Formats: sequence, structure tokens, C-alpha cells
Amino acid sequence: MYLGLYEPADVIEERGADYFIAAHPKPRAESPGFLKVLLGARHSLIGNWIEDHYRACVDSYRILRRQVIFVNTPEHIKYVMVTRHANFERKSPQMRRALEMLLGDGLFISDGDTWKRRRPLVADIIHKRRLPEFAGTMELAAKATLTRWADLPAQTEFELTAEMAHLTALIIAKAVFGKNLGADAAQQVIQGFTAYQKGVDNFNLGYFLGADEGWPLRRSRAMREAVANVHEVIDDVIETHLRGEGDAASMVSLLIARNARDASDLDVTALRNEAATIFMAGHETTATTLTWAFYLLANAPWAERRLLEEIDAICGDRAVAMEDVQHLDWCRSVILETLRLYPPVPLLPRQTREADRIAHVDVEAGSLVMIAPWLLHRAADLWEKPNHFRPERFANGAKYNPFAFIPFSVGPRICAGLNFGQDESVLCLASLMQRFRVTPRPGYRVEPICRLTLRPNGGLPVTVTPRRSLRGS
Ligand code: HEM
Repeated sequence: MYLGLYEPADVIEERGADYFIAAHPKPRAESPGFLKVLLGARHSLIGNWIEDHYRACVDSYRILRRQVIFVNTPEHIKYVMVTRHANFERKSPQMRRALEMLLGDGLFISDGDTWKRRRPLVADIIHKRRLPEFAGTMELAAKATLTRWADLPAQTEFELTAEMAHLTALIIAKAVFGKNLGADAAQQVIQGFTAYQKGVDNFNLGYFLGADEGWPLRRSRAMREAVANVHEVIDDVIETHLRGEGDAASMVSLLIARNARDASDLDVTALRNEAATIFMAGHETTATTLTWAFYLLANAPWAERRLLEEIDAICGDRAVAMEDVQHLDWCRSVILETLRLYPPVPLLPRQTREADRIAHVDVEAGSLVMIAPWLLHRAADLWEKPNHFRPERFANGAKYNPFAFIPFSVGPRICAGLNFGQDESVLCLASLMQRFRVTPRPGYRVEPICRLTLRPNGGLPVTVTPRRSLRGS
């Protein structure tokens, strides 16, 4: 595929009776050089790091004409994300360019005044106190997955990332656009987002050649069609809500109401951009978290046993409900440990506004500051046995450094849907584990790769086996 110029890194994975070293690319012996970094970026953004990167440090280098500063200590992450937030809140041109065609000036990629004005609005409608309003949607979607799995002929193999994306996209689609969103419309949005992601490039050459805003994305026909399909559905939902005919509990409805109440100035395009942003930010991340959690549990029978005992103790033979989530401590620990090992957003790139100094490095205006949860979470001087799956790190409210564990980012730009995403993951994992054992295809080689999010290359083929039937399900 790369004319022999680039070889993906070997993958390390190891298991024993009471331990599991989760699949990860073997660090390179030496830096592979620009051409290979470029080719490697097309395959994955996490395959080219060397051993030295997997420790707490601040380092700087150049890619062509651009200074790149790599920040991997909790202390300096705090400096970048909190202390000097205003200087480093701007997303990298590569990320802005990659998503602007679909999300416009939506919160995920906006900055400056636009971000400042919109953040409280968006954060409020997905705030944790609103979670009970979306609990029913989550429970129903989990139940629909259980029914679909129960109807599968024994030993039917399917791809788990797509299956989890279907589950979480349905949840977020109903939460954002309303419970009466038709199945066809939901499908149109989900397929549009998937098609768009396939066309996005990982590397904006223009930025590294000196263009501070990067080069615009090549707008292929497939991408233009994908965007048109997504926008068509969202515009229709917004028009329906503006006529007062939409689901009053949906996030779009809340956005419109807050917009009117606060006399904010969001027009239909801005409303669409924020709705699309919440949809995009809120489904792929949770889907990959669930996929990785199933992969880890399938390889760690002791952790899976403890999870089933906990669900049994709290829910007995009735279906798991949102009120149970606060009591499912081990299940939450499994999700947190999954987010440590496989942060769905493994890179948090920022573009420096003004010259600055981070640790010993003089930082140029316009430079790329790279914070990598992927590396931070696996730094040997911050985590004991960093590549081992050990949910006990997080059990019983164990304390950790909030700047050493950042799957949701940290500081003012922290994920606005943190509680939504965490509780949804715990609820879905517990609901599905209670009824089914999920088994990856024996001998399948799992290779984590990072494009926009972190996922198993080629997906994760699995079969499911029923555990037992439940009262009331
Ligand atoms: C396990 C699930 C999730 C993970 C790991 C996650 C992670 C993240 C991360 C790392 C960021 C910051 C990215 C950056 O700074 O470059 C982010 C931002 C965001 N997330 Fe999440 N997310 C999750 C679920 C959700 C959900 C369910 C929603 C919505 C319901 C959501 C909405 C958002 C929004 C709106 C932003 C932009 C915030 C801003 O820039 O001010 N996320 N998320």
C-alpha cells in the first residue's frame, strides 16, 4: 500500500492467567524521518513514536517550516490548558480544516469570541443535570441492541465498532434531534458522518509548509454529498422545531429556547453547526470506548467476573437502569481504564497565538503544541505497568492526578458531554454484558490506529453468546 516505503509498527499484546497487556504499537527504535512520518500519518497518528516519547517530558522539533512542541508532563499540560488557556485554546489548522465543511463554526473547532459565547449555551443543554431526561432514550437503545443480538443465529460474526456506532448514534440522534426522528432520517445522518470521515486527511501539508491557516480540504464529490445529506436532515429538524412542532425535550429544542431566552444571535446555520457538533462529538467517542471495553474484558476473565458479580448484586435479574449507574463502581472503573488505555481522542493539537515559553522551550507564534493523551496515559514514570489493563487503578474513588488522565481533555475546553458520555458508556456496557458474552474472533490481530479517533484497524469481529434471559426484558 505504501510501495514498501512505510511499514506499520509491530503490535505488542500479551496475556497471562492474571494479567493482560493490551494491544499497542511497539515504540520505534529511532525517529522514522519526515517522509515516513507523512506516510505513517495516513495510516495512523500513533505508530511513529519512539520509546523516549512514552515518558513525562517536553520536547520540540521541526516538521518542514513548522515548530512542533510536544508537551507530556502534567505540570506543563496544566500550563497550556489552564494557566495560558487563551494563548493555546485554538485548535490546529489540520483539525479545523478537516471538520469545517461539516461543522462550520461549531463549538468543537471554533475559538475566540465565537467559542466563548457558544460554550455556556452548548454546555448547559448537555449538562449532567439533564441526564435523567435522556436516560429513557439510552435504556431503550440498549434494549433494542439486546433484542437484535438475541435474534442472531448462533455464532453469527459481526463487526463490533459498527454495531456500537449504531447504538450510540441512535442515542445521540434521538437526544439531539428528538424522539420522533424517523429511522430513515437517523440513518441518513449516521451514513453521512461515516462517509465524511472516510474522506478526511490526517495531515495538512500546507500548514507545515508555512500557511498559518493550513490548506483547505480537498472537497471530493463523496464528501460534498455526505455533507449535503447530513445538513438536509438537520435543517429539516430545526425548521420543524422552529415551527413549534418538534420534540420539546430534544437538545435542538433546548438550544432554540436558550437562544431566544438569552437573546443570543444563533441563526439557522449556527444552530445546525452546534447540533451537528454535538452529534459528531457524542457518538463515535462513546462507540469506540465500548468496543475497546469489550475487547479488554474478553481478555481479562477476572475483571469480567467481577463486573458480572457487581451487576448481579445491584440489578439481580432485572434490566440495568440509569439509576443503577451511580452504584456500578467496577463497571465505571473498567470504562475509565479503557479510556486511559484507548483515549478516543488520542491527540489534542493546539495552535499557539503568541510566542510563549513552555518548560525550557521558546515557543513561536503559530507553532503546533501537541498534547497526546495516548502517550501521557502510557508514560512509565506516571503509571505503574502502563500497558496493563488494571481497572483497580480507578476503583472505590481512587484519586489520580487530573492532569495525568485527560481522555476528556482538561481546562475550560474540557468535553462538554463528559457526564453524558461516561454514564452512557457504563449503562450500555452493563446492559449488554449482563445478557451476552462478547468474544472477539480467535487469533484476530488487534491494531489500534488513530485517524480522527482511535479505533481497531479493520474493526473488531466478534460473536455473542447469551448468558441468561431477564425478567421484564
Ligand atoms: C467517552 C466519551 C467521550 C470522550 C472520550 C470525549 C472526549 C472529548 C475531548 C477529548 C474533547 C476535547 C477535544 C479537544 O480539546 O481537542 C471533547 C470535546 C467535546 N465533546 Fe466530548 N467526549 C465524549 C463524549 C461526548 C458526548 C456524549 C458529547 C455530547 C453529548 C460530547 C460533546 C463534546 C463537545 C460539544 C465538545 C467541544 C467542547 C469545546 O470545545 O468547548 N462529548 N470531547
